[in-house]
Amino acid sequence: MTVSIIASEWANFLIRWVHVIAGIAWIGSSFYFVHLDLSLRKHDKLGAGIGGEAWQVHGGGFYNMVKYVVAPPHLPKELTWFKWEAYATWISGMAMLIVLYYTQAELYLIDRTVLDISPAVAISISVAGLALGWVIYDLMCKSPLGRNDALLGAVGFVLLVALSYGFTKVFSGRGAYIQIGAMIGTIMVASVAMTIIPNQRKIVTSLLKGETPDPRLGAAGKQRSVHNNYLTLPVVFLMISNHYPLAFASRWNWLIIALVVVIGVTVRHFYNSRHAHKPSPWWTWLVAAAAFLAIVFLSAQPMLTQKAAATPSPAGVQKAAFSDVQDIVISRCSMCHAAEPVWDGVGVAPKGVMLETPEQIRLHAHAIWLQAVATRAMPPGGNITEISDEDRGVIAAWVQAGAPGP
Ligand code: HEC
Repeated sequence: MTVSIIASEWANFLIRWVHVIAGIAWIGSSFYFVHLDLSLRKHDKLGAGIGGEAWQVHGGGFYNMVKYVVAPPHLPKELTWFKWEAYATWISGMAMLIVLYYTQAELYLIDRTVLDISPAVAISISVAGLALGWVIYDLMCKSPLGRNDALLGAVGFVLLVALSYGFTKVFSGRGAYIQIGAMIGTIMVASVAMTIIPNQRKIVTSLLKGETPDPRLGAAGKQRSVHNNYLTLPVVFLMISNHYPLAFASRWNWLIIALVVVIGVTVRHFYNSRHAHKPSPWWTWLVAAAAFLAIVFLSAQPMLTQKAAATPSPAGVQKAAFSDVQDIVISRCSMCHAAEPVWDGVGVAPKGVMLETPEQIRLHAHAIWLQAVATRAMPPGGNITEISDEDRGVIAAWVQAGAPGP
């Protein structure tokens, strides 16, 4: 038993480590190449077929980069392809999705108060969503819509918000956030695997045959690559959001996703404009700041609207003694949050949060309030240990009173 717990904890950590590193490599090269592409300059002395040139200095050396508009006249002997960063990010991400959200669907993916579905149904919906998301996106890019970048972006945004709304009505808040993040991530990686790299291969093949490659192949790859660049920031937000119940457990969690996409796209627009040596669109920071403040406001909504439920009755206030809080925590939280959890599938205290001794409970007063009162993210799985609103009220009163000890 202990061996399997230790093994699964470390497997989990190892996958996460790999996922973050692969993601850094992928996003890093994506940022780099979009920056490089935008900073290329045209002048008279460029050779035939060269669309632009850039000079860069890094790590003690000068680099002279040139971009061939379609392809160089001869295929170089050595050619570096950029694809394994993306594939490794997706493979490790899927592994984590399976290990955490699929094998422990009742804890992470499902919220019975949102929709009472079995793990098998929830997992099927999630997998179907990942596949369908790509199919729809790909069809949109290939349709006449794909020739109008602004319209494509607008339709894509509306679809994304609709999906966010839909998934928050099917999964738990954190499950929905990971689902949307995984869907966007899958679209980004599938673009690399199914469009960008195959098109590049076709270009190489026609070069080897001595033909001139079809410029549409490169243009289609470029379009996907730009989409990926704009989607990066929202995806990273969604991937790290599971530590922040104010985002995923809020009533307006789907609207928060929409605002995060707005922030991500405007911030990328700022940098992309600068890197292209265009006037800096400073207004983007105003939009981003306003959207962020709106997110903070929306995240506080559940607390404002649930105030009635979370505020204890006068009897509740009187009962807000430490011993009552301790009874509640022991009976609703400690089965998981203990040195030796007794809850099936929970091997070690989640996030190291142990709530057994009076000292531990007092130490975590603010975290308990945030998770169990303000956002109701805990107990997980849609209140899996069935804490009552009254008990949440007792905890609220206790924290309001400064979380006194026994
Ligand atoms: C069924 C098991 C279970 C029960 C019951 C449970 N928790 Fe948790 N708790 C978890 C898991 C799993 C996590 C880790 C979530 C993650 O990976 O982000 C967690 C995380 C937390 C965290 C840390 C959050 C963070 O990201 O730092 C706090 C605080 C917490 N729970 C409080 C509570 C309180 C208070 C209760 C009782 C009202 C409770 N939990 C009941 C499983 C449980």
